Amino acid sequence: MSHELFEAARAAMAKAYAPYSKFPVGAALRTEDGRVFAGANIEIASYPEGWCAETTALGHYVMGGGGKIVEIAVIAERMAKCSPCGGCRQRLAEFCRPETKLYLCDNAGVAETVTMGEMLPYGFRGDILK
Ligand code: THU
Repeated sequence: MSHELFEAARAAMAKAYAPYSKFPVGAALRTEDGRVFAGANIEIASYPEGWCAETTALGHYVMGGGGKIVEIAVIAERMAKCSPCGGCRQRLAEFCRPETKLYLCDNAGVAETVTMGEMLPYGFRGDILK
């Protein structure tokens, strides 16, 4: 299953709009019931207005009905094992559990597997806000 997710992330990366950094990134999420949502980074001439691949994927996931995320893959053309930025870790954690797997990829496939709990051990928890 991780290879299928890797392929989805790689296909998304090919659609990145990254003319400023020239650092295409792709991300793919898989829900418990097997749906896959992918996204790429999108940059804007006003640089702070751009956003990450993981965030695009999360937008597709929410619009596609959400659900429990069980696996995530991230790939960057120019960096092996590109790991989500701090903001994306917090965004991903909103919809994941600590045991959700995160596959850090290189151009050949999954290079390292970590968990969301390892990636964001002391993230802000919004429970009290509900
Ligand atoms: N980027 C992502 O899309 N995801 C990451 O995990 C790290 C960084 C993007 C943001 C920007 O478009 C480019 O990579 C360079 O920072």
